[in-house]
Amino acid sequence: MDKYYRLINREHPLPENYIPDNLVDIGLPFDALPGEQKRLLEEKAAYAVLELISRSRREGLNLYCISGYRSYKRQAELYAAGSCTAPPEEKRKTWNGAEGVKYSYVAAPGTSEHQSGLALDLSCPAVHMELTEAFAETKEGIWLSGHAPLYGFILRYPKNKEPITGIPYEPWHIRYVTKPLASYLAMTGLTLEEYHAMENPVEIS
Ligand code: DAL
Ligand code: ZN
Repeated sequence: MDKYYRLINREHPLPENYIPDNLVDIGLPFDALPGEQKRLLEEKAAYAVLELISRSRREGLNLYCISGYRSYKRQAELYAAGSCTAPPEEKRKTWNGAEGVKYSYVAAPGTSEHQSGLALDLSCPAVHMELTEAFAETKEGIWLSGHAPLYGFILRYPKNKEPITGIPYEPWHIRYVTKPLASYLAMTGLTLEEYHAMENPVEIS
């Protein structure tokens, strides 16, 4: 299985000792200081983000990277604290779904895509760099949801798919899955869970 297609969730966790071997900081515009772990991304994902951000800058948008790679240990700390990153919105630990089901904004250690280096949270000054649902209504958030698949990313936790993903709507969290799979998922509206559950998944190459 291509590592870029890998399903990472509660049912499919990463081993505690999993650390991607090609984490890089290529100088992307992060709301974080040089040397901070969250600036790291898996190499291919990092260069795809560079293309995405460069295009958004050419269109006059102000997207910023907030949080990329997180070690198992860091995720465990955030999970224990009930918060994901500094921005206040994500400090809400749970969100009540339609049937009163509680979904956590913070994945349990081992179950976060951030540990793979393939996930990135983005925001913009219009919402004070916060990870908030209001990001979806900004120019940057609207642009991101339309353009992410062109660069190999999916919005991993869409609205109304909470019972499938087990995570509340996160318009700020993108996941690198390569361009062919991102286009396929964007066209079909399937989540990564639904793709992996298909009996005969479409051959993507
Ligand atoms: N906020 C996402 C689900 C994470 O903790 O990985
Ligand atoms: Zn995230």
